[in-house]
Parts: sequence; C-alpha cells; structure tokens
Amino acid sequence: MTQHNTGLAVIGAQWGDEGKGKIVDLLAAQSGAVARFQGGHNAGHTIVTRQGTVVLHLVPSGIHHGITCCIGNGAVVAPHHLLQELDRLAAGGLDAWGKVRLSPLCPVVLPSHEQLDQAREEARGALAIGTTGRGIGPAYEDKAARRGLHVAHILDSVQCQERLDDVMDLHNFLLQNYFGKPALSIAQTHDDLLAAGERLRPLVADIPLLLEETFSRNETVLFEGAQGVLLDVDHGTYPFVTSSNTVAGFASVGTGVAPARIQRVLGVIKAYTTRVGAGPFPTETTGAAHEHLASRGHEFGATTGRPRRCGWLDIVALRRAIVTSGITELAITKLDILDGLENIPVAVAYDLNGQHTETMPQDSGMLACCQPIFEELPGWQDNTARAVRLEQLPAASLAYLRRIQALAGIPITLLSTGPARDDVIFTPDGIR
Ligand code: IMP
Repeated sequence: MTQHNTGLAVIGAQWGDEGKGKIVDLLAAQSGAVARFQGGHNAGHTIVTRQGTVVLHLVPSGIHHGITCCIGNGAVVAPHHLLQELDRLAAGGLDAWGKVRLSPLCPVVLPSHEQLDQAREEARGALAIGTTGRGIGPAYEDKAARRGLHVAHILDSVQCQERLDDVMDLHNFLLQNYFGKPALSIAQTHDDLLAAGERLRPLVADIPLLLEETFSRNETVLFEGAQGVLLDVDHGTYPFVTSSNTVAGFASVGTGVAPARIQRVLGVIKAYTTRVGAGPFPTETTGAAHEHLASRGHEFGATTGRPRRCGWLDIVALRRAIVTSGITELAITKLDILDGLENIPVAVAYDLNGQHTETMPQDSGMLACCQPIFEELPGWQDNTARAVRLEQLPAASLAYLRRIQALAGIPITLLSTGPARDDVIFTPDGIR
C-alpha cells in the first residue's frame, strides 16, 4: 500500500479513538520511520500482537517493527511518563531505547501542569471540558507564552533551574491563590527533571535531519496523529477540543519536515462515531442504540478508562475533516460492531434552525443547534469480524461501505475487521 520516499500522515478524522494505533502499526512494517507530531500522553494507542495487547501513549506505534520512532517538536512530553513507557516496552522485549528518538524542542509537561489541568477542570464544574487531566492544555499554553521548558532545558541544570523558577512561580501562585491547592516544590521538580533528562539524553536527536535522511534512503515516513481532527484547537469544536493542532498540516510543523513531503493523508474513522469529554455531537445516541455500540465496541477510553459517548457515522463532520486535512483516503475500523443491526443511520446533512445544510458549521455553538438528517442503510445479520477478503463480507455491509465512500468522495483503502493485526483487508483501489 505504501510507496517509497513518501510522507504519509495517518490521522483521526473524528473525535479520536478511531483505531489509529493499529493502522500505524500495520503500515510501519513497510516504512523507514514513524513520527508523532502533536499531543502527549493524553493519547492511548492500542496495538494487539500475538504476544498481547500494548497501549502506547507517547511512543509512536511503529515500535514493534524495529524502525526509528520519532517524537517531534509538536508533541508535549512528560519525562517520567515517557521513561515509564520505555521501561515497560523494554521489559516486554522491545528495543524501545534503541529506536525512540526525541526532539530537544518538545515542550515538557510538568507535574504542576497536571495539577493546574485538574484544578481548573474541578473549578469549571458543569462547564468542564472533560480533559484527560494529564496537563496537556497548560503545557501548550506555556509553550505559546514562551515560558515553558523544552527537553533541551532538562539536560542542563542551570537552564532547568532558571526556567523552572520563572514558570513554577506562576504555577504555584495560581494553584495556591486561585484554586486553593497546595504548591509544588521547585527544588524537587528540578531534581526529578534532571534525573529524567540524564536517562533521556541518549534519545535526543535532530528529528528534521533524521527524517530527511529517511526520505533520501527512499523510505516512507509515517506521521502519526493523536486525537482527531474534530478536536483540533483551531478547526475543531472549540472550546471542547484538545490544545494541539490535530489536522494533517501540523505534521509538517510538529516534526520540521517540509509540507510538500507529506503527499498522502490517510483519515481513520470508525464505522460509527465516539467522543470522550464534553462538546457537541450531533449523531449521539441514547438507549438501545447506545447500548449496542458501547457494549459491543468496548467503548472505554484507553488512557482514562472513561465511558465514551457513542453515535452514528456523521458524513457532514467527515467532510469537514477531509477538507481541513486534505485527506486523500480512508481507513475504516470496527465495522463488525454494526453486525446484527436492522438499519444503520448515517448523517448526510443537518437541520440548523429549520435550514438544511450539508456543511458542518465552524462555530461549535451553531453545531450544538444542528439536528442530524439521517439516511437509513440496511443492516446485516452475518458476522464481519475477522474477515480478510472482501468476498467474505455480507452484501449489505459492502453496500454500507460503498455508500460511505461515495458520500465522502475518497476511496476506502483499508478496512480493519478486528483488533488483531491479521484482521485487515487492504483495498488499495477502494471498495468496488
Ligand atoms: P486534553 O487533551 O486532555 O486537554 O482533553 C481535551 C479533550 O480532548 C477532552 O474532550 C478529551 O476527552 C479529548 N481527548 C484528549 N485525548 C484524547 C484521545 O486520545 N482520544 C479521545 N479524546 C481525547
């Protein structure tokens, strides 16, 4: 499926949890490197191998293939979390220490960022965003405010001290005086960061150069997105978004690779939709439909274990994702969760205060007023799980896929039919 010397971005085209980890793992087998370009350990990418299930948070999903796994400057890094993840993978027999490479420019997520994230969510009460509480938002805020620490700063005691004094002074002031929470020790944070920095030092590398070398060896580079396009801080359902740019364009900024290098964008979607946290979700279901999707789909967050909200596929939202990320092809996951339904609704338009629209409003306040207009597609009773050839799929499920493909206007080039690596059908020419 992959061509050589290509940049291929793999991004979530919904609200995250589309199953990107498995897709990146599959494509990594034919690639020279994979790079994360945004987000942090708020992400949870699940990979099922014959040896068992691995959930990755920061380490790119190519780690099982012995290829270079880069964490680009656009990702925020909690050093202790990364160390734990590396140690856990190494204990499982993977050469994580040999293959992961870390940009010196990654903003560091501090323990005080995590405290601020949680204190702020608590203070918001009913208006909470439903963040993962991992400190991701506050870390990106400090990056933009030019007061944060980079990975490079935890490799040098003096720089670490100077920058911590500045930023933690503010954090402690806010924690104590605004949120009524205890302050954190700057000295302890400094010592912990320096110790973590010493362990991470061998992984620190010039990621733009490393990826350029991969391209010049005529190899494919995968750009691994976290979360999904509809959670993008600019193009998503603001303010119910994450704090990074999840659109494909950020793959360039978040790694230091030229935009023209990224020629293909694979958008990953579930055959239905899920969302964790608050915010508008036009096709959300309740009752028996929700029960079907949530229980059959095991819809609980890989990072927080929270139950996910579930709904039907939303083509209007998908079209917005296709436009803002230049998605060239689709991968569909979890088709089998729809097995056994009589009819399957797919949103093809919205009713916005009596007006018919096929365009997702950019403002999330307007989106919250949209009622989905569904097209009902016939369901199927047979099993699609673990199918490895299109001919094994029931006719109605093929018709469902063809209809999605036609509505989206781009080919479905990959179909995931179960959690394991082998549960896949490659359809490079689309579903015919
Ligand atoms: P944050 O990224 O922790 O600040 O959370 C902001 C929003 O993004 C919340 O609605 C989270 O539930 C959502 N979110 C963050 N990471 C993920 C993810 O990996 N999958 C799905 N939703 C996510």
